[in-house]
Amino acid sequence: MARWIVRFKTMCVTMVCSIVVLGIAGKSLAQEKSLYQRLGGYDAVSAVVGEFADRLFADQKLGPFFSGWSAEKQGRFKQLNVLLVCNATGGPCTYIGRTMTASHQGMGVDDTRFDQVAGHLVATLVKFKVPEKEKKELLDIIGSLRGQIVEKK
Ligand code: HEM
Repeated sequence: MARWIVRFKTMCVTMVCSIVVLGIAGKSLAQEKSLYQRLGGYDAVSAVVGEFADRLFADQKLGPFFSGWSAEKQGRFKQLNVLLVCNATGGPCTYIGRTMTASHQGMGVDDTRFDQVAGHLVATLVKFKVPEKEKKELLDIIGSLRGQIVEKK
């Protein structure tokens, strides 16, 4: 076979292989993105949690739980929730608050109250136009905490 044909064939095989390898690598890199990254990182998580918390503070039906808090207490609550969400979604934060069981013990939270709080998170995620896939993943994570927070059935 003429030399140039062999060279041409080798070049084609190399090109096809490179495209396949790059395609696979690119795809796996895209899949490796954490939920935290897909949500937009720290500032995005912080903005969502801030709005979520403000909705809780303003909801009169949740008054027995969240009303009358000082700005400092509100700020602490927001920051701990940012760290919790950041950590639980694969971000670089360490959660330094109490466990969900310890921090909600004795409050008598029931399923209705839990759903009310979770509803504010849903509304916030809708407002921030968080895509369906990421919204579901975050709500699944928060939903998985229900058993540690709800005391009254
Ligand atoms: C939906 C899932 C929930 C998450 C992720 C969550 C998260 C948190 C976090 C991170 C804290 C701070 C913990 C600390 O002080 O060390 C906290 C405190 C608190 N949570 Fe929740 N919470 C949830 C549901 C609820 C519900 C359903 C209620 C009541 C209706 C509630 C009422 C409170 C109150 C009143 C505090 C302040 C406790 C205190 O300062 O002693 N939370 N929560």
